[in-house]
Order: sequence, then C-alpha cells, then structure tokens
Amino acid sequence: MPGMCVVGLQWGDEAKGKIVDLLGDDTDLVVRYNGGANAGHTVVVNGKAFKLSLLPTGVIRPNVESVIGNGVVVYPPRFIEEVENLEKGGIDVSGSLFVSDHAHVIFPYHMEEERLLESGGEGKIGTTGRGIGPCYQDKVGRRFGIRVGELLRESHLRDKLKFVVPFKNKLMSAFATGTDGKAFDANAIADEYLGYAERLRPHVVDTSRMLHDALAAGKKIIFEAAQGSLLDVDHGTYPYVTSSSSLPSGIWGGTGVPAKFVTRIIGVVKAYTTRVGQGPCPTELLDGPDGIGERIRKIGREYGTVTGRPRRVGWFDAVAVRYTAALSGADEITLMLLDVLSGLPELKLCVAYDLDGERVTHFPSDAYQLERCKPIYESIPGWSEDITGARKLSDLPLGARKYVERISELVGLKVSVVSVGPDRAQSIMM
Ligand code: IMP
Repeated sequence: MPGMCVVGLQWGDEAKGKIVDLLGDDTDLVVRYNGGANAGHTVVVNGKAFKLSLLPTGVIRPNVESVIGNGVVVYPPRFIEEVENLEKGGIDVSGSLFVSDHAHVIFPYHMEEERLLESGGEGKIGTTGRGIGPCYQDKVGRRFGIRVGELLRESHLRDKLKFVVPFKNKLMSAFATGTDGKAFDANAIADEYLGYAERLRPHVVDTSRMLHDALAAGKKIIFEAAQGSLLDVDHGTYPYVTSSSSLPSGIWGGTGVPAKFVTRIIGVVKAYTTRVGQGPCPTELLDGPDGIGERIRKIGREYGTVTGRPRRVGWFDAVAVRYTAALSGADEITLMLLDVLSGLPELKLCVAYDLDGERVTHFPSDAYQLERCKPIYESIPGWSEDITGARKLSDLPLGARKYVERISELVGLKVSVVSVGPDRAQSIMM
C-alpha cells in the first residue's frame, strides 16, 4: 500500500485528523494536496492542544515527514505562526516539514479582494476569509500568481509585485465603496514577504521529486484532503464550494504523485451532517434553540475551527454520501462522532429526495436543483446509553449497531472504524 487517501465525504469537518492520527503509526509521510489555512483541526498531544489549519497533521509525529504539496495555497504568516506554536510546545519540525516551491502564495490583497466580494449580499459564498479563492484565481489566471519558490528570489519578487500590485489596487478601487478601498504598496509587501521567505527557505523543496523518491524507496504516504468532497470545485455544490479539488482526484495535480500509487481511499463521515457557509444542505435541522439541531451542535461542539462560526447541522444524508463515495472511489467509510447522537429517541436517515414532486435517489450537485430538494427520511429508534466507553462493536447498544449497519447498507461500503469520542482510544476498529 504505497499511498492512501483520507478524504471527507460531506461538507468538511468530518474529523479526518483523527483517522490520519490512527493510521499514523504505519506511515512515513503525510501530505496535503489542496486548500490552505481554511481547513482546521485541533490535535491533542500529551494533553496539549495544537490548532493547525495549514500544516498537515503529520507534524505532530516525530518520525513522520510532512509535506505541503503544490496544490496548496500558502499564507506565510500562518505557516510561521503554526511552526512557532509547535516549537513552543516542544515539537521541532525543522528537518521534517516541507513545502512545495510550486505552491502559490496568499498576499494581503487576496484577503482584501475576498472581503470586498463577500461584503455584498449578492454572490456571497460564506467563505472563511483567508484569501483562498482569489489566490487560486491568480494561479489559474497565470498573470498575477506568485509561487513559494519566487519568494526566495529578491529582485524577481520585487519586480513581480511592482507589476501585480498596481493592477490589484485598480481592481480594489473598482470594487470598493466610499472609503472602503485599501491601496497596497508593492515595496512594503516585498519587504514583509522577503522576511517570511527566510523563515520558509529551509522548508522549501521540489516536493514532487521528493515524493517520487519516497515512493521509489518503498515509503508509505497518507494524502490528507482538506475540506470535504461536497466542497470540491468541480463536483461539489457549485458555486458554494471551495476553490480547489478536495476529492482524491486532486492528489495527482496537487502533489505530482500519479493516481496509480493511491491504492486505498478512506472516506470519513460524521454520523450526521454539518456545513459552514452558504449553500444548500437538504437535511439541515432548523428546529430552533431547543431543537435537535442545537443539541447536536452543542454536544458535538460544532463551531468552525477557523472562523468560530456555528456549523449548520442536519441528519445523515445517504444520498449525498453515496455520491461522494462514488466520486472519491472510497474503499470504506469511517463513521465519526456517533456518541453525539446518544440520548435521541429517534434518528433519521435521508434515503432519497423529493425534487419537484418526484422521488430521486441521485445527488444533483447543481446547487440550484439541490435547493429544491426535500429530504425523504427513514426513521430508526435511537439509544439512551452513553457509548463513549465502547471499544468493540458488541459494546454498542442495539440501536447504535443498527444505525451503523444501515448507513453501511445505504452507502454501499463497509464501515471500518466507528469513533465514539475525540480520544484515539475511543475508536471501534471493525
Ligand atoms: P473558502 O474555502 O474560504 O473559499 O470557503 C468556501 C466554502 O468552503 C465556505 O462555505 C466555507 O465555509 C467552506 N469551507 C472551507 N474550508 C472548510 C473546512 O475546512 N471545513 C468546512 N468548510 C470549509
């Protein structure tokens, strides 16, 4: 098994970090291939919590090399902050963290561009505000994109920013209303980023070559997706998606590792659904402050790691997960946060949609069609017991076992892990 991918099959925040951690003993490298500091996970090591949004979760393991692939967009201040926080916590990543010289860099004008675009009601996506979309736009637009490798060449960087920044200022003033607009200074940005470049320099390599060498040496790699499959720019609920390929199809482009090396794909799902930002979510529970949605949000601590926004919460949507399981080529699913549902007398599973009066069992990834879909549910009796101490399937009450079995049937994949709490040990390996 040279390469495996851990990918979320919903709208992100499926607790992928825990699965990467469980698999970590048997891996040499952990690689991120998409997104940027819009992802977020908290990893606990020896009782100390580390918040990571840009670095791969592998950084917390002493014998694992961590790689930020070319498909990721890098905000250097965040990179430095996360490295420093790790150092403060006694974790040294100086020889084990690598970033691609081809990864694109996020600049302050990207964040400003995003702020201006998101401040009007029309066309709002509900982004994380980290400059992700504008940076990817510059990457594919080719004229304004700046890669990590370019930060390391002073005169080149100064010249390039002298070309890019005046265009950005014009764009910004066209978008801005009143005194809203900010003008950027190319030299000031160059000075600031040249400072960051020196902190990044020891970590910058040609990561594609590094990964090819690792594969040739028989090393094992975990590819860690950021965001969830339903936020994939091509196959997600466009336009309410992120700007990168979060499905495993992003690995080839985002790292340079050919698909044939990725021989196991692990789809991670929550026992219910969450979504942050705008866009349709057919099973969303809008049942008020005393309702089930709020109860799940509180117990599951469903607030965004990056933005702190309350996540939208809903019942498990088997139609959506069947779709992403097919797209990702998942071999198995891991079912996370099952313990959060304990104590609910009745659980619902979405098995189909009503679309304009017709029952459909396929997922319309066109957000405008999905907005019109109403969930068709199957009910399952819940369980009252606390399951956080369960360590094997037979420890689970009958209701919980039935719930796991039914999800497996509806998605058409085996469930390989059931997670019943945040701790590593709170996992049922099937
Ligand atoms: P962006 O990635 O910041 O451009 O945001 C686009 C959409 O993806 C918004 O709805 C965000 O809330 C969502 N999003 C981005 N990253 C994550 C994540 O890691 N988890 C969940 N949602 C995310």
